[in-house]
Amino acid sequence: MRLIMAQIYNVPTTKTFSEETPIPELGVETPQPEELRVELNPISGERPLTAITYRIFQERDLIRTFSIEPHKLLSYLFALEDSYQQVPYHNKLHRADVCQSMHVLLNSSGIKDVFNEFEILAAIFAAVVHDVHHPGLTNPFLIKTKSDLAILYNNESVLENHHIAVAFKLLQADERNIFSNLSAEQMETLRRRVVDMVLATDMAKHKTLLADFQNLLEAKKMSGNDYLTLESYDDRILVLKNMIHCADLSNMTKPLDTYSKWIDRLMVEFWKQGDAERDLGLDISPMCVRSPTTKDKHQIGFINSFVHPLWETWGSLVYPDANTILETLAQNREWHEASLAALT
Ligand code: CMP
Ligand code: MG
Ligand code: ZN
Repeated sequence: MRLIMAQIYNVPTTKTFSEETPIPELGVETPQPEELRVELNPISGERPLTAITYRIFQERDLIRTFSIEPHKLLSYLFALEDSYQQVPYHNKLHRADVCQSMHVLLNSSGIKDVFNEFEILAAIFAAVVHDVHHPGLTNPFLIKTKSDLAILYNNESVLENHHIAVAFKLLQADERNIFSNLSAEQMETLRRRVVDMVLATDMAKHKTLLADFQNLLEAKKMSGNDYLTLESYDDRILVLKNMIHCADLSNMTKPLDTYSKWIDRLMVEFWKQGDAERDLGLDISPMCVRSPTTKDKHQIGFINSFVHPLWETWGSLVYPDANTILETLAQNREWHEASLAALT
């Protein structure tokens, strides 16, 4: 297995920290520490993922709780940050954004005290690694071009399996093994949660994931509970899977100036895939067609089919926390509708 992975993924040569290396207070060296506490880029020296994750680990006291050695955490985060391909959307900034969103969602009312420290560690870790070493191409593209990754993972959640494999491969080096003080049993428990969460970010799982979530919430309502009680592993992980899915699909719920930057990055990535499909003589995926109306049409369809139903369900769980998010999402969709009307 190691041999196959070595062909698929090479660990980058990146700075590693040792016990002797001084650890910057905020994880990264910055001349503006006060600003970095509130603002991220470019003050983090192009290391948004390290800066945000280190801060969240500190704020949630995960470093002390799980006896994580700070130099190993920084070595791991640097390697993770350097394990990216030059892609416009699925890069370290997106992972930093999803990590930050997950951190916020974990604090939602109604569920704030539901998850234990171990589940929180797994949730934050899953968010940080969830798209690591993304090639900027979709699963259907990798499958139809019979890529090495699709062959390795038998066409099943190809990218998501790859992200998980890279994340755990980077942990194999002792100097990056942030979980070295966990017992084997704890490690297995953590690993199971991380794998389940990252696999849940495959859009092909969306329908089942959301239907199961809706059934769970309905059942909880029917049993007359005012607050969420989740006893079984399946119920707990189902909420965490939907939470990371929400965090992954949160760019459309952000104010327009932020959201429009994410779409522009995603469209450049999609158009590049469309060019590759054209060059290979394949049908161009609808969202990858270079046409003036593609962006608005795709966003409206994506919001209506996936994002709104997901966030509406999440909103019913954490009511009223997601009300502003749902309003922003509706405004963003209206903005696309107006833009499309002006074009047609
Ligand atoms: P990924 O981040 O791997 O998982 C969620 C997917 O949803 C993401 O890849 C994109 O393919 C898709 N996605 C995320 N945001 C948008 C968006 N604004 N418009 C269209 N598709 C999106
Ligand atoms: Mg993904
Ligand atoms: Zn993602």
